[in-house]
Amino acid sequence: MIREVLRMGDPRLLGQARPVAAFGTPELAALLADMRDTMAHLEGAGLAAPQIGVPLQVVIFGVHRNRRYPDVEEVPDTVLVNPEITPLGDELEEGWEGCLSVPGMRGLVPRFRRIRYRGFDADGAPIDRTVEGFHARVVQHECDHLAGILYPMRIRDLAKFGFADVLFPGGGLGPED
Ligand code: NI
Repeated sequence: MIREVLRMGDPRLLGQARPVAAFGTPELAALLADMRDTMAHLEGAGLAAPQIGVPLQVVIFGVHRNRRYPDVEEVPDTVLVNPEITPLGDELEEGWEGCLSVPGMRGLVPRFRRIRYRGFDADGAPIDRTVEGFHARVVQHECDHLAGILYPMRIRDLAKFGFADVLFPGGGLGPED
């Protein structure tokens, strides 16, 4: 079922999400189905459970090349529960981000270039990946949602925050997550 995505200003986006206690449950399956439906409907790159008002540590993401985004770095479709991120090195990289909770906007956000992330899939099987670049950016963006952080809070130069169609009049703006 497609759910309403909360928009910036809603206090439910600012809370700390709770860990999932049980895997392979009908409740978790139903939450993930709703998250997938909602993300697909909005053509997003990722979605965190708090964005649909569920304060649990669950995120989904995945990015694939298509006609709209022919140059995007691909990210595998992933369900990530109870995630933990470890930065590898202190190198930061600035990149443009959008968010389904901040529709129509883009901002330039610093993120760790390389990270290791760990967590679990929907059945409780462990996930342990070392990634960099756009994949690392998407994971950091989604996991920020679990700590009540929206990407505009991380922008260092607010001159680099604006409406996507004004910033990128020729298109070429990336997907929102
Ligand atoms: Ni987001």
